[in-house]
Amino acid sequence: MSQRWTAIILAAGAGTRMRSSMPKVAHPIAGRPLVRHVIQAARDAGISDIVVVVGHSADAVRSAAGDEVRFAVQPRALGTGHAVACAREAAAEAEYVLILNGDVPLVLPSTLRRLMGAVENVAADLAILTAEVPVEAYGFLELKGDRVARIIETKETEGIDRDEPRFINAGQYAVRASWLWPHLERIAPASNGERYLTHLAAMAHDEGNPAIAVTTEEPIEVRGINDRVQLAEAEVAMRTRILRRHMLAGVTIVDPASTYIDADVTIGVDTVIEPQTHVRGASEIEGGCVIGPGALVRDSHLGERCVVRFSTIEESTLEDGVDVGPYSHLRPGTHLCEGVHIGNYAEIKASRLGPGTKMGHFSYIGDAEVGAGVNIGAGTITANYDGTQKHRTTIGDGAFIGSDTMLVAPVNIGRGARTSAGSVVNRDVPEGMIAVGAPARIRSQRADGAEQEESEAGR
Ligand code: UD1
Ligand code: CA
Repeated sequence: MSQRWTAIILAAGAGTRMRSSMPKVAHPIAGRPLVRHVIQAARDAGISDIVVVVGHSADAVRSAAGDEVRFAVQPRALGTGHAVACAREAAAEAEYVLILNGDVPLVLPSTLRRLMGAVENVAADLAILTAEVPVEAYGFLELKGDRVARIIETKETEGIDRDEPRFINAGQYAVRASWLWPHLERIAPASNGERYLTHLAAMAHDEGNPAIAVTTEEPIEVRGINDRVQLAEAEVAMRTRILRRHMLAGVTIVDPASTYIDADVTIGVDTVIEPQTHVRGASEIEGGCVIGPGALVRDSHLGERCVVRFSTIEESTLEDGVDVGPYSHLRPGTHLCEGVHIGNYAEIKASRLGPGTKMGHFSYIGDAEVGAGVNIGAGTITANYDGTQKHRTTIGDGAFIGSDTMLVAPVNIGRGARTSAGSVVNRDVPEGMIAVGAPARIRSQRADGAEQEESEAGR
């Protein structure tokens, strides 16, 4: 059935009330542009063919909408009715059309299904979504039972109390295509020259087959975003919905009021999210983790049983059983293998640390490949930048990097090698050897633990 439906999402308006250089529908809530919430709702309602109408700041709207939709262009914002007409060619194959305002992000797929069902199963050509909320600046329905006589725009009508609850027009419509296209052409321009989609309601009524009003499950579903106050209100509502979904799926959220989880995040069972925690972007957190308090995780994958306290993790991968923090920063390209321990004030960038490696104290590791079971002492630094280029550091399995070691890249530390406290290592340390001093000289490690100097030629 869903193949016969095309969704047309209106996103060509200027959105002037946002007072923004960015188009309204590109503003995010829960880490996702408004228009993508609408696209996702249509998709979850079973519609795969989606046309987004773009005009004002078209390029920015296109990139906000993503590449899994088609686009139609409304060259000038001549009203919502005109915007739908601009999608006619793109939606030519459709038997039914679901029209969605691109600035109404909280509508639920199940509600859209009921809206669609109203034109599929009832002999109406048009169904209009509504909820009884303060009328604000919305249009509202003049109802006769569940049929609509017309839609009245509050903005254009004198003497309406904006706090008064009314059955408002949510800006979501299901309509039979064969009825839609000819009627769109007959919409007369309003006093400002715009052609209002809402005029369809009176047309259907006057023909003797009025539109059906379908009521949402939750009033918040009709929240239209026109300014940043409404944007913030929608953010709270979306956040509450997302947190609830995770809690019902087995995630403990200790303090929902201070927890921020983006729409696309996945979290496994029995993970605990402690207060003041943000999980952003396309992050995936597996089960049994403890995230927070005070953590920011963005676009990262965390395996099972990871612990992250008071730390920031960006575009990184943590395998199972990794612990980080407090007060560490994992920057993009960090990969920590199973059981890695990162303690306080560590910074890691574009580096891989092998299984069981420990870095307990303030250190910087950048552009490095670190083996398994390595101990990185307090104050270790990879001097990876010479002012022009970045250079790599490699550290072999089981190496021991002494406190306050300066690894001047490019440099390789062999398996089981050591560096002494305070050493400045600017040349390779072969397997099993020790680097001592500044700049470091290379010696062998004697079996009894004492150190013996390598041949003078090796210096
Ligand atoms: C519209 C409805 C109003 C309804 C409200 C619900 C009309 C005339 N009014 O009012 O009854 O209660 O939505 O939120 O439809 N757009 C275009 N091209 C245009 C004009 C608008 O694509 O020429 C897009 C906008 O980008 C936006 C959507 O249509 O995503 C709605 O436009 P907006 O100007 O916000 O309409 P409202 O005044 O909110
Ligand atoms: Ca609007």
